[in-house]
Amino acid sequence: MSKASGEELDKKTAAEEHVRLAAEIERHNRAYYVEDAPVISDAEYDALFRRLQEIEARFPDLVTPESPTQRVGTAPAPGFAKVRHRTPMLSLGNAFTDEDVRDFASRVRRFLGLDEGEEVTLVAEPKIDGLSASLLYERGRLVRGATRGDGTVGEDVTANLRTIADLPKTLSGDAPDLLEVRGEVYMTKSDFRALNERQEAAGQKTFAAPRSTAAGSVRQLDVSITERRPLHFFAYGWGEVSAPLAETHSGALVKLRSLGFTTDPLARTCRDADGALAAYKAIADKRATLDYDIDGVVYKVDRLDWQSRLGFVSRAPRWAVAHKFPPEQATTVLERITIQVGRTGALTPVAELTPVTVGGVVVSRATLHNEDEIARKDIRVGDTVVIQRAGDVIPQVVEVDKSKRRRGARRFKFPHACPVCQSDAVRDEGEAVRRCVGGLVCPAQAVQRLKHFVSRNAFDIEGLGGKHVEAFWSDGIIKTPADIFRLGARAAEIEAREGWAAQSVANLVAAIEDRRKIGLERFIYALGIRQVGQATARLLAKTYGSLDHWRRAMDAACEEASDAYRELVATDGIGPLVAADILAFMAEDHNRKVLDDLAAELDVADFVPPDAASPVAGKTVVFTGTLERMTRSEAKARAEALGAKVAGSVSAKTDIVVAGPGAGSKLTKARDLGVEVMDEEAWLAMVEGA
Ligand code: IVH
Repeated sequence: MSKASGEELDKKTAAEEHVRLAAEIERHNRAYYVEDAPVISDAEYDALFRRLQEIEARFPDLVTPESPTQRVGTAPAPGFAKVRHRTPMLSLGNAFTDEDVRDFASRVRRFLGLDEGEEVTLVAEPKIDGLSASLLYERGRLVRGATRGDGTVGEDVTANLRTIADLPKTLSGDAPDLLEVRGEVYMTKSDFRALNERQEAAGQKTFAAPRSTAAGSVRQLDVSITERRPLHFFAYGWGEVSAPLAETHSGALVKLRSLGFTTDPLARTCRDADGALAAYKAIADKRATLDYDIDGVVYKVDRLDWQSRLGFVSRAPRWAVAHKFPPEQATTVLERITIQVGRTGALTPVAELTPVTVGGVVVSRATLHNEDEIARKDIRVGDTVVIQRAGDVIPQVVEVDKSKRRRGARRFKFPHACPVCQSDAVRDEGEAVRRCVGGLVCPAQAVQRLKHFVSRNAFDIEGLGGKHVEAFWSDGIIKTPADIFRLGARAAEIEAREGWAAQSVANLVAAIEDRRKIGLERFIYALGIRQVGQATARLLAKTYGSLDHWRRAMDAACEEASDAYRELVATDGIGPLVAADILAFMAEDHNRKVLDDLAAELDVADFVPPDAASPVAGKTVVFTGTLERMTRSEAKARAEALGAKVAGSVSAKTDIVVAGPGAGSKLTKARDLGVEVMDEEAWLAMVEGA
């Protein structure tokens, strides 16, 4: 990297780099937390982050409250009710080397002013690669579950988290009246593999990795989807508590287990930094055999009184640190370099490798990113290369072992024409990516766009997998998205194809019919506009409400001086760059035709805020009498999460009275006023699954 070191950096260059880095980190935060689709490895992310910290350390006045170093994660996605965490959910500082870990221990000692002889017991526990969640229990009952969000405000995912079997809905034993438990939601590797086998058998797209699948599963507006995904929960901490759990972290873990939580069985107490490093090694050795992904070891000061004295610096506690594992690496041979053409025409070089096992997964392909990367690392066909794999991210080539290069190996010439349609492939000023200019004339782009259109988070058409799309495309059966909805007319033709029968064609046609009605957000996402992922599509749907309104607004926004344009770029989370991609899409004639054709085939439903979709949204509900299956506050919280208003007394404005045994005057009044009355069972039946 050609970056000036902190020493020789002048203020102006530093300020410029700061802006650039902050924007880049923010983009990766979005990809990771909002889209559940990270594009760089943790190690690369950490490197960007450290560089930003370095610059801020040297020029402290560059630190603003908006800087990624001062915030955790990213704002909650629209579509979920927001939850303000009673105590913020923070992040952890990182340690990469043994020295970093010793420094951590010394910092703790210094801060506490400890004498030589006094030991700082640490707890070492695996860092689970999942997504963190906060669970609020009132008098032993789960009343609310939330994601971390930006650390201050998260998403209300109570109903989703309730589907997790090893997460107690009521606590056993002696729990504080108020208890907020924190931990990690994850999917086991074996469940993940089984899920992908099912997807494959059904001709559906497979999932990328356990972490992003778990995160995507929790953040489903449709809880029935979460229900079908096996998730687990490890408790490792807590937020607000009405009474202390213990005097030490290790004691608190014991207490959490006694209440019914699962904690990671590999957690160990250690006497000092050396002990912690030994625990790190032991956990690292077990890593490949564990049925869940971990990406490091977290060390925490055991004594809770010391934890509270140590406190926090901006986004992370002083009493804990995450010791990250280096990405898993292996050496193999680069057999060929192929070029993939993506949905937006980007040419991506792919390393075709002699298959090799990296961290328990067989890898035969890795990304080479772009042409500069190949040149910079001087990667040549036939080279012996080191590859690495980290979590969800596509494996990558780290470096070449030049000592093993065979004589006469040539530098790789990156094509300047699309390998699929032979159109020019051009690189715009300041861009790292070369793109095919063929648009939908390019078969690769056309097919990738169709595949995206039917993919799981878009139209999700059962029985129409990527392979089918390719075959139908090359035989001219499906050329544009609207053709999918005209397949019914060609049933006989499809039936005559190999691998199809009357029944499977009928099923496919039924699955397609099923999707003729679709929500606006899925529709927008399905279009495959550059930079418009699920979260942005949801944002657009929420802002514009209907397909008609959205299209008219985008047409008007083509004029930069218009109010429509100003409204678009002012939408929180959109901005000029994303807006430019949306408008460029709308400016293309063939895209307009796709939209018109689809509008003729489909019934695109207006955006419905999730609350209004529940059967009790906007209704005023009164609970009276004894509730047997939930506490009053739980009932209230759930009703409110579904968009109902909970009132204390019955009036003409009351819509529903939920009456349990012992209900008295409120029930009588409800009957007098003719208000709908139901018992707890009927209420639960109505709201369950909502
Ligand atoms: S403690 C205030 N313990 O790592 C400190 N975090 O990088 C709270 N994580 O947001 C975190 N395993 O999602 C802690 N054993 C563990 C963990 C763990 C995974 C995650 C968690 C946190 C992130 C910080």
